[in-house]
Amino acid sequence: MIRIPLVAGNWKMNGTGDEALSLIDAILPELQEVQDVECVVCPPFTVLYIVSQRLSGSGIHTGAQNMFWEESGAYTGEVSPLMLKQMCKFVILGHSERRAIFGETDDTVNKRVLSALYHGLVPIICVGETLDEREGGMTDEVVQCQVRLALKDVDLKYSDEIIIAYEPVWAIGTGRSATAEGANAVIEGSIRTILKQELGNSISEATRILYGGSVKPDNAREFFIQSEIDGALVGGASLKAQDFVEIIRAARN
Ligand code: PGA
Repeated sequence: MIRIPLVAGNWKMNGTGDEALSLIDAILPELQEVQDVECVVCPPFTVLYIVSQRLSGSGIHTGAQNMFWEESGAYTGEVSPLMLKQMCKFVILGHSERRAIFGETDDTVNKRVLSALYHGLVPIICVGETLDEREGGMTDEVVQCQVRLALKDVDLKYSDEIIIAYEPVWAIGTGRSATAEGANAVIEGSIRTILKQELGNSISEATRILYGGSVKPDNAREFFIQSEIDGALVGGASLKAQDFVEIIRAARN
């Protein structure tokens, strides 16, 4: 099964209009020649439109960092799938910062996943254990539970694609990445296994699973050569044009 590598840059709460455009203008020429990796840029909502305009026709996709599940209505401060689908293909859901800081739960992540799929957006569903859970030997249980609950009632007739990002919480923004072999083992043993149980063998085999957590140019290749890791969700390094470009180059087969 060939899974095309995908590298997504999660800018988090960084990037005013000018900063966003200069970052895009720095990466765009470098990525023109990269055909065999799918590249996604996930800027804040405020610059999503201008970034999507700038990237239009380039082959580089845009993604949002979150969304609410309703289509419209009295939900002050929220952004709906109908708004997003005008300007992006992907949406990150259930990022650990959303879960830890903004109170998102497996249940609300699931509502978002169902809504994203229904509206034809490709969800990048983030799962991962905390340091305490890891040290308590609970990694597999936690990750499997997050995947299972995120996918509850999913009907893939709406979209044939979901993406999972395995992001150990203790590795995000800390400079302390998981070992490539360790991440591969969790993805193979826990995530593909639960995907197989929930969605069947062929979807489990076809689903792209990314690693995220302190991916940098100097460690990216180690992750990408693992059999079950199909790319990366990159935070800090996606804000540095050259680092992001090098990570994408490292993902070429
Ligand atoms: P990081 O963030 O690369 O800065 O660790 C990854 C993420 O939060 O998706």
